[in-house]
Amino acid sequence: APLDPFDLVIFGGTGDLALRKLLPALLHRHVDGQIAEGTRLYGVARDARSDDEYRDRVREALKKDADADPRVAASLEPFLAKLHYRQLDLGSDTGWPEFAAEVGNDPGRVRVFYLAVGPDLFALVGDRLQAHGLSGAGTRVVVEKPIGRDGASADAINNALGRVFEEHQVFRIDHYLGKETVQNLTALRFGNALFEPLWKAEHIDHVQITVAETVGVEGRAAYYDKSGALRDMVQNHLLQLLCLVAMEPPASLAADAIRDEKLKVLRALRPITNGNAVNMTVRGQYRAGAVEGRAVPGYPDELGEPSRTETFVAIKAEVQNWRWAGVPFYLRTGKRLPERMSEIVVTFRQVPHSIFGELTDGEHGRTLAPNKLVIRLQPDEGVKLWLMNKVPGPGGLRMREVAMDLSYAETFGGRQPDAYERLIMDVVRGNPMLFMRRDEVHAAWQWIDPIRNAWESNGDAPKPYTAGGWGPTAAVALIERDGRTWHEDA
Ligand code: BG6
Repeated sequence: APLDPFDLVIFGGTGDLALRKLLPALLHRHVDGQIAEGTRLYGVARDARSDDEYRDRVREALKKDADADPRVAASLEPFLAKLHYRQLDLGSDTGWPEFAAEVGNDPGRVRVFYLAVGPDLFALVGDRLQAHGLSGAGTRVVVEKPIGRDGASADAINNALGRVFEEHQVFRIDHYLGKETVQNLTALRFGNALFEPLWKAEHIDHVQITVAETVGVEGRAAYYDKSGALRDMVQNHLLQLLCLVAMEPPASLAADAIRDEKLKVLRALRPITNGNAVNMTVRGQYRAGAVEGRAVPGYPDELGEPSRTETFVAIKAEVQNWRWAGVPFYLRTGKRLPERMSEIVVTFRQVPHSIFGELTDGEHGRTLAPNKLVIRLQPDEGVKLWLMNKVPGPGGLRMREVAMDLSYAETFGGRQPDAYERLIMDVVRGNPMLFMRRDEVHAAWQWIDPIRNAWESNGDAPKPYTAGGWGPTAAVALIERDGRTWHEDA
């Protein structure tokens, strides 16, 4: 159903995020009839440009989506007709009074200001909106990660936003929370009676969370080199995934019920310090190699200079509470890995006693493999439950690990909406469930900052790894030291 007409203003309207993610997401919502007549969409940036010039640029960016589906193609021009461009500089008042008069401050109409700009500009946008009467009831702001570079700068940003907006007006986006498969994690855990009784240290041996990318830093080296994988991926996406796996059952889907539970997980993470960082973390940086059969340069070559920024991180995390005591959560993420693949693997404990004796299965030359629940976030979204089975045959008892395999595409068909489609519409609806509360951001940084500090004080550079491999060998050693291995899908 269409939402009441609203206004959505994208600061950074010509940037990568707007063109690659936000506008395509809005277009698809338009196709599905959610963007009513009377809705106004604005791209805002610093340079002069007419509505038509902006639409040309956006049309170009949306071509891929339109070419793929006639319904999208048919919706493209009506969608573009709702889109406007306004030239505004955050450092001056020029143009602002006119813009404020145009957008208006009707408390009964939703106005979303999407800050698709660097975090150093968040406070400035807030101040401008306030100065021009655009910050009151009806207004919502969306801030992209990274929120700051560390705990102190994140607090400064949140304080600045807090001076202008009420907490319920601020939507801190982590697009991983909008992914279908990530939402399904909560559905699986709390919509089935099967998993929850087993969801604890007594029955779970360890958890792995992998977010692997084949891309390098693309055109984002300037941003990325100041950030690195720990800030770019772990502080937000991987920790949010860890929270959803580890949190206690919330009493309801109320936003704060869930966020309260996630916060407790973040606060229960075992601190990583100068003392234990060497054993608990690995950081790497890719060198020239080949990914998916294509030769690619190393990170320093892409950047044009040597750098100590990590493009890969592996961490052994622990949640210190009754449920998870002694259960490691191995996290890893990196660029220029062999495949694009994100998954969560929950490995259960071995059966307490094997009635099969020392039986080997011939094929694998070992006895029983522990059960695993593998939640594939992307690509090939789905869920696999690995179970031991008897291989049919009249001879001796041969056992083999076989997966019960639920593929999203086969089961549900159709197209998977992008995370941003859900999230932008949630902002318009005013539903903060899939957004981060400020105390979560703070708690995440509190765990991340000491890791960063430990790396800086121990002085080691990130370990090189060949593009197209699974990161530095130290990342393999991190888990193998504990007698475990990174999961590889058979
Ligand atoms: C972004 C990071 O938040 O997530 C990027 O800044 C990364 O570096 C991207 O490539 C990955 O998102 P997705 O949805 O492609 O897994």
